[in-house]
Amino acid sequence: MPKKIRLGILGGGGDSLIGVLHRVASFINDNYEITGAVFNPDHEQSLAFAREIDVPTDRIYKDFDTFVAEEMKLPAEERIQVVSVLTPNFLHFPMAHKLLENGFHVICEKPMTTTLEEAKQLQAAQEKSGSIFGLTHTYTGYPMTRQIRKMIEGGMLGNIQKVDAKYYQGWINDLIHDKEKRTTTWRLDPAKSGASCCNGDIGVHAFNMIEFTTGLRINDILCDMNSLYDDNPMDIDATTLVRFDGSKAKGVIRASQIATGEENNLSIAIYGDKGGIKWEQENPNFVYYFPESGPMQVYKPGHAYNSELSLNGTKLPPGHPEGIFDAMANIYLGVAKAVRGEAYDAGEFPTMTDGVRGMDFIEKSVASNQQGNIWVSLES
Ligand SMILES: NC(=O)c1ccc[n+]([C@@H]2O[C@H](COP(=O)([O-])OP(=O)(O)OC[C@H]3O[C@@H](n4cnc5c(N)ncnc54)[C@H](O)[C@@H]3O)[C@@H](O)[C@H]2O)c1
Repeated sequence: MPKKIRLGILGGGGDSLIGVLHRVASFINDNYEITGAVFNPDHEQSLAFAREIDVPTDRIYKDFDTFVAEEMKLPAEERIQVVSVLTPNFLHFPMAHKLLENGFHVICEKPMTTTLEEAKQLQAAQEKSGSIFGLTHTYTGYPMTRQIRKMIEGGMLGNIQKVDAKYYQGWINDLIHDKEKRTTTWRLDPAKSGASCCNGDIGVHAFNMIEFTTGLRINDILCDMNSLYDDNPMDIDATTLVRFDGSKAKGVIRASQIATGEENNLSIAIYGDKGGIKWEQENPNFVYYFPESGPMQVYKPGHAYNSELSLNGTKLPPGHPEGIFDAMANIYLGVAKAVRGEAYDAGEFPTMTDGVRGMDFIEKSVASNQQGNIWVSLES
């Protein structure tokens, strides 16, 4: 067993949504050891949280700049190797950029930055550094979304004709109708979130899932957003028509945070001239395949009929459900292989390229909506 990779964490404190997913994921395949962190902008809270989860406090730094400065004083064999950036969106770029400049490998939450321009600068910094960069589009880590990618790559759907990706949530309904309550989430503050709330937070997952599974690249989009109130500057619902590079297929990304009662309803349906396929995040262990001539088939994780990429993402025999923690763990596993210089499949973790394309999608969807719901081209 190779030595564990020294992992740093920025954000993801006890008060956060996503921190626990990354901590558990980093632990699952025995590859990482949490070595240092700034879990929270308040140092006392960071220290208290480290004690609570039994992480040594000697490398819990008071802020991000101190984290980098102190780690850089250590010899390379002691220094943190990979840093996970789990803060609100506006901190992703300054943190990831400085980390790459200083030679750290980075795992970054989505959306990668708050603008396309920042995304391009980050890409340049990574190219210069040669560091590994993983972007946590978590749902690409599920064994069955990986299986869809390989089934389509293997021609089981034929030529793609129609793609329908949906990401419906209802949680913002609780906040959106009360101006005071809206201030309780950074996601509705453009300075912290970026120009889009709905497409920035969840539409971008659906965008990435389409490109991850189909292997097609979305070229042109037309977006219609809803903010419900004139004094709310952020979209909380967005419908985006998409067209692809080198394909006659057309598609739609339906995203909403005001779909009352919906929880985390990400789903994708892809139809080709030889067959169709469907998957839902809330039931992630089932892929429904509809061959053009023949009965529906249900694929499940862990069976030998699945692709190597899918099987690499399961740890137990069939019948043991794979969940969101396993999906994130698979992304951490892919990054660990890359950091160690081991061979890995391109589907094992989303990269800088996905991040740049995601920011292009977000920015252009806002532009399309602002300009009267017109078709705009992605540039990346
Ligand atoms: N991959 C996914 O499916 C997924 C799901 C949820 C959230 N996210 C992304 O994860 C990121 C965090 O989202 P969240 O919901 O956990 O947010 P959150 O507001 O719940 O948590 C943010 C954390 O960052 C900490 N923080 C803030 N400023 C900091 C600073 N200067 N230094 C160190 N820590 C700081 C906060 O104390 C908190 O612990 C966002 O970019 C979000 O888009 C991704």
